Amino acid sequence: MAKFIPLSTPVFDKDEKENILDAINAGKLATSGKFIEGFEEAIQQRYHGMHTAVLNSGTAAIHLALKLLGVDKGDEVMCQSLTFCATANPITYLGALPVFVDSEVGTWNICPETLSNAIQDRVSKGKKPKAIISVDLFGMPAKYDALYQISKTYDIPLIEDAAEAMGSSIEGKLCGTFGEFGIFSFNGNKIITTGGGGALLSSNQERIEKAKYLSVQARENYKYYVHKEVGFNYCMNNMSAAIGLAQIAKLDHKIERRRSVYQNYVEFLKNFDGITFLDEPTGFYSNRWLSSILIDKTKTGFTNEDLRISLLNQNIESRYLWKPLHTQPSFKDCLYYGNRVSEDLFDKGLCLPSSEDLTLSDQERIVKVVSDLLNK
Ligand SMILES: Cc1ncc(COP(=O)(O)O)c(C=O)c1O
Repeated sequence: MAKFIPLSTPVFDKDEKENILDAINAGKLATSGKFIEGFEEAIQQRYHGMHTAVLNSGTAAIHLALKLLGVDKGDEVMCQSLTFCATANPITYLGALPVFVDSEVGTWNICPETLSNAIQDRVSKGKKPKAIISVDLFGMPAKYDALYQISKTYDIPLIEDAAEAMGSSIEGKLCGTFGEFGIFSFNGNKIITTGGGGALLSSNQERIEKAKYLSVQARENYKYYVHKEVGFNYCMNNMSAAIGLAQIAKLDHKIERRRSVYQNYVEFLKNFDGITFLDEPTGFYSNRWLSSILIDKTKTGFTNEDLRISLLNQNIESRYLWKPLHTQPSFKDCLYYGNRVSEDLFDKGLCLPSSEDLTLSDQERIVKVVSDLLNK
């Protein structure tokens, strides 16, 4: 059997190993140690002084952002539908209700026009939403000019789920800095990883201090354990931060590699009728975390499922786009505003292997599967 090609795999070198050894030798594996602060500082430096709390997942970061915005039982939160369930699950942890919004075709992210209409409708029914969550899908920034205006017009705070978009930007402004809160994920297959982990960013220092406090079970600074409120076990451990600190130093290289993987796919497949890519709108810069294509069966004669199976038969992993959350059984009772754009993207889309260490010959193997299907 030919070598397995994964969808997205982390790459480590001696720096991560040295840092881990350092943490072990210092006996600091848990929730204190120099790497936690070091990793936070490294993120803050890269993100123009945005205050940062590193946490044990991106999901935790979204949960804390919602809590700090005062989202509570019965509140409604506008949320991009085309995303991983972790974007919306924390809304339900607070007893609040996600209201799902469709995508637009230019970025595959939340459609500003549909969002604006949906908010007007919710307001007219006496249900002003408490927050908006946008996503930067597969590394592509959402349309923040318009989203920012909507957030200001209706005075509804924006949370930017940039879990997949570390290093992406619009006109040089970095993803993770567009909302009142930005979040990152450092899960195993993300552009940088800490094994499992996440970060919460805000320009508001007080809010980040509060997030840090809540992330350590809301423990008071006292001689014995005192808790004035209920907190969470959400802080990052020193081992994960040790890996993260080594990884973030190489972020530019990782982005460069993923972008070049994407560009190779474009070169290889651009003349194949019925296969299209997500171009960057002017001024947009994607980290190209996952290279994704859309397949028009009426032109190619095959579907995304046909290609997924053919790749699998050659020991190559690929993946559907996220199944829109308004179509998930777990969210079947939630409201949805849109015109089936996200469903159409889901029906046609496929994420191709995108690891930074993917070789040209790996990509040639992948492209051959596509051309064999086309020539069938
Ligand atoms: C869009 C999106 N949001 C949120 C998350 C949650 O991050 P985590 O897995 O670190 O909890 C992920 C990744 O897993 C994601 O892709």
